[in-house]
Amino acid sequence: MDRFELAQKLILQAGAALRQSHLESGAVWQKTGHQDLVTRWDKETEQFLRQGLLSACPGDTIVGEEYPPALHSTRGAVWYLDPIDGTTNFVNQHSNYAVSIGCYQNGAPLFGLVLDVERQLLYTGRSGGGAFCNNEPIHVAPHTRIPELLLYTPDVLRTFLAQHPARGGLVRLAEAVRCVRSLGSVALELCAVAAGQADLFVTLCSSPWDHNAARIILAEAGGCICDLSGKPFSADAHSTVLAANSAQVLARALNEYIL
Ligand code: IPD
Ligand code: CA
Ligand code: CA
Repeated sequence: MDRFELAQKLILQAGAALRQSHLESGAVWQKTGHQDLVTRWDKETEQFLRQGLLSACPGDTIVGEEYPPALHSTRGAVWYLDPIDGTTNFVNQHSNYAVSIGCYQNGAPLFGLVLDVERQLLYTGRSGGGAFCNNEPIHVAPHTRIPELLLYTPDVLRTFLAQHPARGGLVRLAEAVRCVRSLGSVALELCAVAAGQADLFVTLCSSPWDHNAARIILAEAGGCICDLSGKPFSADAHSTVLAANSAQVLARALNEYIL
């Protein structure tokens, strides 16, 4: 079994367990505050994925949200794990959350898998091999006119109200597009752009485990990604993120609104 097949087996098993999970009130904790939660299922799912990956590939490095290593090395094979992306949704809705597994080799993308757990949609992308949802090819939407674009952002309050140099431009962009929506999961929102259900994505704050799987899927589906200054960002970067259905739309969002 190669690394991709292993990751696919593990993510489907993790999803099946999460769908059957029950969350006791004592199994939810605050991390940095009341808007930043972690549950027993975040920790158990990450441990399950870690053990499955490391028992088959003991020399690989794992960077997971709940047990991040002190040193971020991009040397060799590195896995980026978000056991539950959208923990608040998991707690409040038991819907709209994902398991995310990205794999990189010396900082270069190999493949990404994002499982929309409750809808049982598995998004996959292998570098140079295209992007798929449940094995069906997916592609970005062809929209180019700003008034026809749908923009996703995972944290509306922070994106449009935070004291950030791009704030004014982001508000003008939000007013110019057709609509702004929020799922509350970076991985699912990037996959929505990859699958043509949205055209733009923006966040002021994203970690490698949030976006590293989905950005491979997005690139394979024809989309583009950069930070809010228009620069590429590396696999181990905590970064602002702007993503779009094409290089043309990305450039227009940056040059006409954000920069
Ligand atoms: C969070 C979600 C959320 C986004 C945060 C992420 P988590 O991940 O993707 O939508 O706004 O920036 O940290 O904590 O649910 O894994
Ligand atoms: Ca998480
Ligand atoms: Ca996350």
